[in-house]
Amino acid sequence: MTDTASTPRNAFPMARSCPYDPPDGYAALRAAPTISQVTLPSGRSAWLVASHADARALLADPRLSISRENPGFPSIVEMREAPDLKVTPSLIGLDPPEHTALRRPVITEFTVKRIRGMGPGIQRIVDEHIDAMLAAEKPVDLVASLAMPVPSLVICDLLGVPYSDHGFFQERSGAMLNLTLRPEQRHAALSDLSNYMDKLVTRAEAAPGDDLIGRLIVKTRETGEYDHDQTRDLARLLLLAGHETTANMISLGTVALLNNPEQLDELKADSSLWPNAVEELLRYFTIADFVPARTALADIEVGGVTIREGEGVILLTASADRDEAAFEDPDALDIHRAARHHLAFGYGVHQCLGQNLARLELEIVYRTLFDRIPDLRVAVPEEELPFKHDSFIYGMHALPVTW
Ligand code: HEM
Repeated sequence: MTDTASTPRNAFPMARSCPYDPPDGYAALRAAPTISQVTLPSGRSAWLVASHADARALLADPRLSISRENPGFPSIVEMREAPDLKVTPSLIGLDPPEHTALRRPVITEFTVKRIRGMGPGIQRIVDEHIDAMLAAEKPVDLVASLAMPVPSLVICDLLGVPYSDHGFFQERSGAMLNLTLRPEQRHAALSDLSNYMDKLVTRAEAAPGDDLIGRLIVKTRETGEYDHDQTRDLARLLLLAGHETTANMISLGTVALLNNPEQLDELKADSSLWPNAVEELLRYFTIADFVPARTALADIEVGGVTIREGEGVILLTASADRDEAAFEDPDALDIHRAARHHLAFGYGVHQCLGQNLARLELEIVYRTLFDRIPDLRVAVPEEELPFKHDSFIYGMHALPVTW
């Protein structure tokens, strides 16, 4: 056993030196012991779990709690709570059995079959946006013209949120995920989104529509489980998680494919390769890197250390997905590799609810983009590309492209 006190304390989060790779420090974290203690900006310490095997095992371990109410929860940044704030812990703040009860009624909205049925609608949205790109003056910002609007429109349609409010909710979602803002700024963004969703849910209660929010109200009223606050906070989580993540993968994946022209040529020649390529891109970037964070509910012996009850743990998924013990030549992008066991969507009971939707959106966007604009290229020198080093979710602020 390694003595906790003698484990080196590093500052976390760490900076990236290459926009396509996780921070250099992650490789050292994977060297034994693969679990080490770091100091967070809040001054708190937390365990970082860097290997694939340990991260996956701990994500499925009921001795770890996702509740933010645990005093040892390893928040990267502080979210100062104020009395006027209307929020209940939603899926990513609840452990079973409360988590199970909240997730059960929405699972049916995200089954593979249900999501496949959304394919034609997503294809139409993508085609319309690429039509507009082709008609616009070059260069075009792929983030503003495709990567943000497509997942935003899709999640708005699914939830029953008016897309005309996208400027409002995209700005607030971005602020909530921004690591550099002051706590009160993130708090204001959360408060705005919560009040906004409160009004939408109140309206839907009076006349539930044929959308996720409406169906959830009807279904949970029937079982006697309906709760206004929980519905509001679940819908807010879905709105944020449903557009920011996928949007970032669209821009990052596009650049990565353009940087690997032989693999892109293979994809253009054989569209059946896309689903596997999407999986590999998800592994390669693992954009929600340090989102999976937990608190130990008991002493846990793992990877040669003892995590004590009450201590915070961050499951470092971008490190896990570059672990040479789980993926051969992990730093190479290889659209043919079997990457399905990546942790980009997490693992265990909190594994991403929207993963089937994200996969389908990414496949349709990439395929259609490179089908319709085969000579697409980045319009600025690589060093001018604005990668998101300031966000909980990695991505790109803009991606100027031309053809
Ligand atoms: C959970 C990543 C897209 C909704 C998660 C988690 C990760 C993740 C890592 C687990 C967090 C944890 O264990 O603490 C991603 C990535 C996406 C994506 C990389 C896109 C490429 C989406 C979409 C939606 C969504 C499109 C909704 C439509 C959710 C929800 C949870 C979640 C509701 C919480 C599940 C639970 O706690 O039961 N996501 N996500 N995500 N995601 Fe996603």
